[in-house]
Amino acid sequence: MAEQNKLLEIRDLKKYFNIKGSGFRNKQTVKAVDNVSIDIYKGETLGLVGESGCGKTTLGRTIIRLYEPTSGSIIYDGKPIYDSEKNIAEKMLPYRRKMQIIFQDPSASLDPRMTVGEIVGEALDIHKICSSKAERSERISELLEAVGLNSEHSNRFPHEFSGGQQQRIGIARALAVEPEFIVCDEPISALDVSIQSQVVNMLEDLQDELGLTYLFIAHDISVVRHISNRIGVMYLGNLVETAESYELYRNPIHPYTKTLMSAVPIPDPKITRARERLILEGDIPSPINPPSGCKFHTRCPFAEERCKQEIPKFKDYGGGHFAACHLLEK
Ligand SMILES: Nc1ncnc2c1ncn2[C@@H]1O[C@H](COP(=O)(O)OP(=O)(O)OP(=O)(O)O)[C@@H](O)[C@H]1O
Ligand code: SF4
Ligand SMILES: [Mg+2]
Repeated sequence: MAEQNKLLEIRDLKKYFNIKGSGFRNKQTVKAVDNVSIDIYKGETLGLVGESGCGKTTLGRTIIRLYEPTSGSIIYDGKPIYDSEKNIAEKMLPYRRKMQIIFQDPSASLDPRMTVGEIVGEALDIHKICSSKAERSERISELLEAVGLNSEHSNRFPHEFSGGQQQRIGIARALAVEPEFIVCDEPISALDVSIQSQVVNMLEDLQDELGLTYLFIAHDISVVRHISNRIGVMYLGNLVETAESYELYRNPIHPYTKTLMSAVPIPDPKITRARERLILEGDIPSPINPPSGCKFHTRCPFAEERCKQEIPKFKDYGGGHFAACHLLEK
């Protein structure tokens, strides 16, 4: 994809959390996002997958600077909004209009004391989007209708809605400011299976209609495979592989992705036959004291001595299929 189509350019992004330790270690550092570099193209859906705790939410929130990065750089539509080396940290209010987030747990993300109209209207007020009360209430009705609710819902409180409807309210709130980029942080995982596809279809329709770009976070590849143009796989704060969606599904090259894909049932016997079955053993190590070298070496079926010492480089192995693994360099 062409350079000018990049909406976001993220380089060496780190987000470390300092937490209180136990015993004589009174301070510890959680390396939640550790040196992530990725481009996100205008109008695409980039899926982001990985086990619980690998840093997906932290990466999504750090990209839009809901969390202040520890270091690295973020360029939004050609403009550096954060660069630790050049001491750039742009004021985010104008960018909040362009970059929004839909949260994993809709009920926790909506203030129970505010009506739906107030929740959606608050975003309009912060960014002074409407010039009159009439325009404001018309805009709120429009937004509620865009997500499959209606204007009568605006006087009700979040607890009066189902989980799926609450997520629709969260989506209306994100859309209120006419954003360009939305981090969809597992927007359907808290919802009943029967309504998950309705919400996904709605997000896809809104994307087409409004020309939105999504970072779509999910636990597993099967959720994002159909809706993503590309998919990134995270492991313990690192991005280990990115590729076009079908390419990643058909031809995963990183051992961790291969283990994830082994768990996904595939209807095509040719692909099943071509694919090695790998079982992922053990738990994800702690991001407080992650393994040296390649962080996956403690669980990787192909680990060699070198993997314990050297961090593998994240390289393009053809057609934008990136991965970080020493085996691939041979
Ligand atoms: N505010 C915080 N303070 C300290 N540690 C944090 C904070 N937020 C996240 N972490 C830690 O950072 C790591 C990554 O967490 P994160 O929530 O980004 O993972 P995730 O991939 O989104 O997981 P899940 O799939 O369960 O949502 C975890 O070890 C988590 O405990
Ligand atoms: S670098 Fe080594 S440990 Fe890491 S994924 Fe590749 S083979 Fe496995
Ligand atoms: Mg998360």
